[in-house]
Amino acid sequence: MSTRQSRKLEHIAYSLKLSDGPGTTGLEDLVLVHNCLPELDLADIDLRTSVAGLAFSCPVYLNALTGGARDVTEINRQLARAARACAIPMAVGSQAAALEDAAVRESFRVVRDEYPEGILLANIGGGATVPEACAAVEMIKADALQIHLNVAQELAMREGDRTFRGYAENIGAIAAQAGVPVLAKEVGFGMAGEQATQLLQLGVAAIDVGGSGGTNFACIETARITDTTPSFLGFWGIPTAVSLIEVVTAVAGKTDVLASGGLRSALDLAKALSLGAKAVGIAAPCLQLLQHRGLEALIAYLTNLKFELRCIMLLTGAASVAELQRKPLIIRGPTEQWLKKRGIDTSCFAHRT
Ligand SMILES: Cc1cc2nc3c(=O)[nH]c(=O)nc-3n(C[C@H](O)[C@H](O)[C@H](O)COP(=O)(O)O)c2cc1C
Repeated sequence: MSTRQSRKLEHIAYSLKLSDGPGTTGLEDLVLVHNCLPELDLADIDLRTSVAGLAFSCPVYLNALTGGARDVTEINRQLARAARACAIPMAVGSQAAALEDAAVRESFRVVRDEYPEGILLANIGGGATVPEACAAVEMIKADALQIHLNVAQELAMREGDRTFRGYAENIGAIAAQAGVPVLAKEVGFGMAGEQATQLLQLGVAAIDVGGSGGTNFACIETARITDTTPSFLGFWGIPTAVSLIEVVTAVAGKTDVLASGGLRSALDLAKALSLGAKAVGIAAPCLQLLQHRGLEALIAYLTNLKFELRCIMLLTGAASVAELQRKPLIIRGPTEQWLKKRGIDTSCFAHRT
């Protein structure tokens, strides 16, 4: 087994062992305003959304987790079954291993086999070439392509990359030539408004902020080396709520914004959608549920999240994701302080009607 393939298994093992954080997502600083007279029925709540021109029946997607080793084929099969049962889009893990070694391609193809009608996202890194990006898309007949940005993870990884020049040029070339919408995503360290503006100019169809407060790849990589969690980058990154507001403000509606990183409850999802995310991604909890409690438990979690999201939308008086983005939202505490220092006025969220 190659180093890359054994790393995939170690990522799974440590993500099952470690908890979120140590920092938080900042979503605890946000409050949606309760509406005691919503004049809506639960059946009125419409979860549909669209991302990069793709129609999602619900704004939740299963974010990139795995693939690239024979031993993870079964995990991807089960994840795809859960995504299909809940009719949600699914991203596969990085396909770099399968571009190198045809023997592990099945660990990705199984996702398309299990979910033929699904919205599937291919996944490669920022250093990939246009032919590699096209091969990754073709491998799973993907509807879109995620390009993951994980510089902090690589630096925390003993065998990780140390050269990061040329990513912007690659992303621009892939966005122009991949033949499917290209989404740039962080893996849990967040994005600042400045980089969102750059990505917008590079032509990406959507940006997933991938903020901190959830899965922490600095801690995972450090644990792989020392089997202890403190990492010099443990508190590095931009919390998901902060990152989302920075990015939504920077792109000003010119591209779709997605939220991920530590989103766990329906209330987290509702807050992220309210801030302007068109959809929200969840990764580690899905893997943990699948591995610890099985496929039915994962399906029940996702099904329940959709029900609870509907309830919370109703309690704000919002019948759709677009309406939720016009409902008042209070932003306070460290999240507000950060944004104020960055020149972003959060009071406009509180005054929405
Ligand atoms: C075990 C594991 C493997 C992952 N592998 C990938 C990957 O190959 N490519 C990628 O873009 N993101 C990968 N991620 C990152 C997730 O897609 C997501 O961005 C991150 O975990 C934050 O979301 P969460 O807090 O809901 O887990 C992985 C996450 C986990 C837990």
